[in-house]
Amino acid sequence: MDMSRRPRRNRQSKAIRSLVRETHLRADQLVYPLFLLDGEDQAVEIPSLPGNYRLSIDKAKRTVEECMNSNLQSFILFPVIDESLKDSYATYSYDENNVYLRAIRELKTTFPEMCIITDIALDPYSSDGHDGVVKDGGILNDETLPILAKMGLAQAEAGADILGPSDMMDGRVGFIRQTLDEKGFSSTAIMSYTAKYASAFYGPFRDALSSAPKGGDKKSYQMDPANKREALVEAELDDQEGADYLMVKPALLYLDIIQQLDQNFEIPIAAYNVSGECSMVKAAVGNGWLTEEEAMMEMLLSIKRAGANIVISYFAKEAAEWLQKNGS
Ligand code: PBG
Repeated sequence: MDMSRRPRRNRQSKAIRSLVRETHLRADQLVYPLFLLDGEDQAVEIPSLPGNYRLSIDKAKRTVEECMNSNLQSFILFPVIDESLKDSYATYSYDENNVYLRAIRELKTTFPEMCIITDIALDPYSSDGHDGVVKDGGILNDETLPILAKMGLAQAEAGADILGPSDMMDGRVGFIRQTLDEKGFSSTAIMSYTAKYASAFYGPFRDALSSAPKGGDKKSYQMDPANKREALVEAELDDQEGADYLMVKPALLYLDIIQQLDQNFEIPIAAYNVSGECSMVKAAVGNGWLTEEEAMMEMLLSIKRAGANIVISYFAKEAAEWLQKNGS
């Protein structure tokens, strides 16, 4: 055979494959979601997200410590709120004694070097289960902004490093940025959920928080899965409004969007490998149809390869442990 190019030459040994590898996963660019529960000594497994737990703050500290030992140092926090504390304006979200703000303070005191990313949206605290204020079946945009800003400010005051508006209201990044700057929190960053799609893959997350919408769906504020150019509009606005990171969510089903934002913007790109994407793999593994470690690492790698600097995933802890054991 006359072949001057034989791509297989670059695949013939482990050492050579490492030499030519283009993408690497690193534990310190993964983010692990933590679901926080009031009380003590609580670890309640989420049935639709096996291996992930709703944790009381003391237990969350143990988990953070384990992660830090594997070089995984960034976390995104979500609260599990009792139904009796929810109302239509999510007022409990900025009560300084709520489990979320207490957790931020306590975790930051115990682990000053960790990075805490928050979630800003009404849904975990909303009796309507929507990310904004509901009126006559619609979601009010401008009326929601001051609530988001109050929530964000309370999180910044508690010591969060990066705030994550996940609500998809128009103008919220600029509104939150301005509030933070006015109150002296110019160092607190914003990771905007820039291209957040109205996805069927958030189900296990909503189970975990009991935060599913009580009526209707989120299609009037989250993006249509069919749209790609619209992600550029959202990204331009977030960039202009002062976002420090642009996030794409979900990750795996939207690799083209990650690539598009990576090619068009200079600020770091994050991608959220969401609950349903993780539970698909977990279910297949549970049935003996896939090998968990291989499937997980390939999935995370694909998100990085598409152009994400930062990958948020329920697999982050397991992946960090794998990387520590096996190298990248
Ligand atoms: C809520 C929020 C959601 C997720 C993160 N923040 C769910 C939703 O929009 O309904 C989903 C995360 C996941 O599925 O892992 N604002």
